[in-house]
Amino acid sequence: MSRLVVVSNRVADPRKAAAGGLAVAIKDGLQQTGGIWFGWSGKTVADASVAGSQNSVHKQTVGNVQLVTVDLSQQDYETYYLGYANNVLWPVFHYRLDLAQFDVSFGAGYRRVNRLFAQRLFPLLKPDDIIWVHDYHLIPLAAELRAMGCVNPIGFFLHIPVPPPLIMAAVPEHEWLTRSLFAYDLVGLQTEADVKHLVGYAEAEAGAESHQGGYLRAFNRTLRVGAFPIGIDVGEFAALADGREGVDMFSRMREEYSRRQLLLGVDRLDYSKGLPQRIHALRYLLEHYPENRKRATLIQIAAPSRENLGAYDDLRREMDSLCGAINGDFGELDWMPVRYIHRNVARRRLPGLYRASQVALVTPLRDGMNLVSKEFLAAQNTADPGVLILSRFAGGAEQLGEALLVNPYDTHGTAEAIQRALTMPLGERIERHTALMATIRKYDVHWWRRAFVDALKEAVRRTA
Ligand code: ADP
Ligand code: F6P
Repeated sequence: MSRLVVVSNRVADPRKAAAGGLAVAIKDGLQQTGGIWFGWSGKTVADASVAGSQNSVHKQTVGNVQLVTVDLSQQDYETYYLGYANNVLWPVFHYRLDLAQFDVSFGAGYRRVNRLFAQRLFPLLKPDDIIWVHDYHLIPLAAELRAMGCVNPIGFFLHIPVPPPLIMAAVPEHEWLTRSLFAYDLVGLQTEADVKHLVGYAEAEAGAESHQGGYLRAFNRTLRVGAFPIGIDVGEFAALADGREGVDMFSRMREEYSRRQLLLGVDRLDYSKGLPQRIHALRYLLEHYPENRKRATLIQIAAPSRENLGAYDDLRREMDSLCGAINGDFGELDWMPVRYIHRNVARRRLPGLYRASQVALVTPLRDGMNLVSKEFLAAQNTADPGVLILSRFAGGAEQLGEALLVNPYDTHGTAEAIQRALTMPLGERIERHTALMATIRKYDVHWWRRAFVDALKEAVRRTA
């Protein structure tokens, strides 16, 4: 059986519970076949001659799986990770050209690190390994590996959205990025809308020909493009909800908020997540449905993220100010509309928090999938479930039609949806939740991994 080799910017130690659903799925896949998980160590080293050299490669063996990570230099971190990945590709792919900074040194750093990863990975590969590369940090990795003579099957999964063709075309290096994509055998995206955008872009900008079954032909290569919506490990999450810390969190929250209805937001503090818009909608709700004053509380957990980037700093200031203002304007001695927490919550405690909440506000302006929406559903009490309010611009909206779908730019419409969720009868809540659970169980993270790997093998067979 072929080994699986997974490459991603961050490598999680799958033995740790905090690692999350993706790590669990990847661990399962790797353990079945044996293999490697390769990526950045998350560390930078001051001595640039050590960074990226053999001395900065760390290897750890866990059963039949090797975790291999590489340290980067400060300059590589700034140009590859902060620069090209998070100051160019992240904003552009989330439709935010206004936030992108097209600095030439970023592109150079991005190429350098992708080449470095390929150089460190290539000697570890065996002839029949299947390689699975993840996310926007590593688009050119396959092209770098191919240039070294790698002929293994290589698949790529993009966790973030694909914007419409003309937005993609604004990236100065877009032609090079597209050519790099064609070094893969399969490109997996989160939604059918993303597939439409990528195919439209490749046809218009790279003269690609479309063939049946999602195959594209350009640059003398054939690439399959398909939608593989990522799921969660529903079983793992339900078990966490019933675990000691999950139950403890649930009981504490229910006790503390026994006379209140809880609204919950759990996000990284990122401008794609629609956090200011969410606070505006809450303000509108309190103004127009005053029965919610002294009754509904939004707990907004916003995990610090990419703090060295200006746009994230601006967002932090904006959120501090909006939350301060709404609490100042509406708060009472014994009630505040928002509890805003700029911190991570331990993964084991999250399910208890989800279960204690009547409504989840998952209202990104644009999101690849959004796993929080699925985690909230999995953690609910099936006999008395909460209501999911989901942005129609989250990838998950293509699958989760029984949620209350909103346009987060529409303050009035979002506030109406919150009111509807807070007053939804039990029968309707159960009906919606049952349908949503059937979907997330069927398309869980194990389905996602199997579907992607099978499609990769099939794509290689078809084009051999
Ligand atoms: P993204 O990949 O953009 O961060 P997702 O919703 O797809 O968004 O995934 C986020 C993951 O991180 C989820 O598994 C969620 O539980 C976790 N997470 C997000 N915010 C927090 C937080 N504040 N504390 C703890 N975990 C968080
Ligand atoms: O979903 C996009 C993503 O970049 C993931 O790859 C990553 O795990 C998450 O957001 C957190 O971002 P970062 O790795 O930049 O901290």
